[in-house]
Amino acid sequence: MENKYQKIYDRSIQAPQDFWSEVAKDVFWYKQPTKILNSDNPPFYKWFEDGVTNTCYNAVDLHVKNGNGEKIAIIYDSPITNSKEKITYSQLKDRVSIFAGALKEQNINKGDRAIIYMPMIPEAVIAMLACARIGAIHSVVFGGFAANELASRIDDSKAKIILSASCGYEPGRTIEYKPLLKKAVEIANHKPDKCIIYQRKDFKIELDTKNEIDWNDAIKDAKPVECVEMNANDYAYILYTSGTTGTPKGIVRDIGGHIVALKWTMKNVYNINPDDVWWSASDIGWIVGHSYIVYAPLFHGCTTILFEGKPVGTPDAGVFWRIISEHKVKSLFTAPTAFRAIKKEDPNGNFFKKYDLSSFESLFLAGERADPDTIKWAESLLKVPVIDHWWQTETSWAISANCAGLGLSKIKYGSACKPVPGYDVKIVKSNGEEAKPNEMGDVVVKLPLPPGTFPTLWNANQKYKDNYMSTYPGYYQTYDAGHIDEDGYVWIMSRTDDIINVAGHRLSTGAMEEVLSEHKDVAECAVLGISDKLKGQLPIGLLILKAGVKKKHDEISKECIQMIREKVGPVAAFKTAMVIKRLPKTRSGKILRGTIKKIADGEIYKIPPTIDDPTILEEIKEDLRKHNILK
Ligand code: COA
Ligand code: AMP
Repeated sequence: MENKYQKIYDRSIQAPQDFWSEVAKDVFWYKQPTKILNSDNPPFYKWFEDGVTNTCYNAVDLHVKNGNGEKIAIIYDSPITNSKEKITYSQLKDRVSIFAGALKEQNINKGDRAIIYMPMIPEAVIAMLACARIGAIHSVVFGGFAANELASRIDDSKAKIILSASCGYEPGRTIEYKPLLKKAVEIANHKPDKCIIYQRKDFKIELDTKNEIDWNDAIKDAKPVECVEMNANDYAYILYTSGTTGTPKGIVRDIGGHIVALKWTMKNVYNINPDDVWWSASDIGWIVGHSYIVYAPLFHGCTTILFEGKPVGTPDAGVFWRIISEHKVKSLFTAPTAFRAIKKEDPNGNFFKKYDLSSFESLFLAGERADPDTIKWAESLLKVPVIDHWWQTETSWAISANCAGLGLSKIKYGSACKPVPGYDVKIVKSNGEEAKPNEMGDVVVKLPLPPGTFPTLWNANQKYKDNYMSTYPGYYQTYDAGHIDEDGYVWIMSRTDDIINVAGHRLSTGAMEEVLSEHKDVAECAVLGISDKLKGQLPIGLLILKAGVKKKHDEISKECIQMIREKVGPVAAFKTAMVIKRLPKTRSGKILRGTIKKIADGEIYKIPPTIDDPTILEEIKEDLRKHNILK
């Protein structure tokens, strides 16, 4: 079976245009593409440039037209509100068409941007698909981000409308969206015209009659609208992700390649058939949610689960098993941290024993490196393949994986297996030479990237070129470091920039440092991600105070923690800020974050030859010990 993978992989690399033009036949086009790849202006490649299609048509209407209208498209399961709903493809088409009509009535047209700031409810998916139906570009913002982050996305996208809800629910706390929206719009320079707000059953809020519209009022007299024809290279969405500065990067997705690639992955990467029930336990605010809660399963005509809850505490560590068993889920995709959380609460799998999981065939993990302990624990409990795969917001689908639909390869714990067809993955050393097997280096992908990956950044072609395509000309720089072994397995070990991964959430330490530097008593600071048993990594802040500051250190720390919560958001899980005397630096003034991290994690570290004063390392060690951070 492994030969099947190898054959398909080789063809995708040797004859990418033939490969993808065949794959593209599986998609509905108003006009079939005849130009498969335009490589005239590297690194800006265009896939399927003369094709005409529509994302919503492929996700919804096509299945109704093909006689599958009565099939369940979405199962909404919300243990946090104790509610469930099943939506057929026909019902989804009706609801999306009407909401698309409501958007048209608000003068939202092809190319306009809509921010979606919503909890995990069916209306959020309807909002995404309605934008796609009329050719508006959506930008979903994760609910755990603070008003500042929302404001920067409003400004960068120049959104004409915001689609939101009265609240979101977190265990033990209701998140009121309106104050966050209000604050974000106040901070933003660009002001969206309108806001449509979905009122949740048990949490109705008062709306401002001037520019806030109740979702139900918006759809009351709206007329359903049909899908508009879109060029394959028009944009489907912008999804902002952490960059190396406080300004997030707007990853754009073009329409044609997105449909072609994602639909293909459902069978080939995940071995899912259109009659299967598929579950991605993530959030629509992240790329995993965009691709695998919403688009890919719907393009493929499957049933997708929309889960509003947590792996533990809603109500217990058995909720994943309950959902798999109740809805007959074939495969689950989540982040390793979710399994670590379940393992912590229920190490012996007592909850698991209560359910019949005979429908379940495989577990896919991504978002952070799946540590071998977690994989082995999940395997011993579930007795199905546990597959780690590696990908990024930039690509929207897996770069390397054990492709279940092409015949599983041997599992090597800690590796994200082999490059997925379409991706020519290499390891390069800092001198630009290709690394030998097992030699560490930067992980890069030879251009052109396959369809569905980012063709550019929103309004920032130069930044796209400079940030991703310049260090190694002809290659996409992933900012991950790792190696490829003698069997061609890819091992992703760490980031090479300031990104940390907290519970599968991608965050920039640079952006947190920018916030901390705004504290009036802070002269200098460093934020780094230290390892954490549950969340993978957790940020800690090290603060150097300005001379003469008399305030209690504890108070300053508390204020700093609150600042990150308010400006970045609770999702940063920033709970530790400690005042220290000096930061270790190189002679040229670079803070030795990597060395501090190694000290904190109890790893062996070398004293860097360029350090200006090695005694500071002992001082830092003592500080970390005092704060119970030293492992
Ligand atoms: N809206 C508002 N706040 C949110 C939020 C949302 N959508 N999502 C998370 N938060 C808040 C949480 O309430 C929490 O706030 P607190 O500091 O007041 O407790 C904070 O952000 C951190 O949240 P979270 O990362 O969910 O941590 P947790 O300790 O509540 O739960 C896990 C830990 C492991 C259970 C949780 O991280 C999880 O389910 N992870 C799955 C990973 C995942 O889906 N990754 C997506 C990429 S695949
Ligand atoms: P995001 O764009 O939020 O999906 O985050 C992408 C980053 O998460 C990658 O660049 C990696 O650093 C990390 N990541 C995702 N999946 C994996 C994996 N399977 N193994 C190791 N790192 C991963």
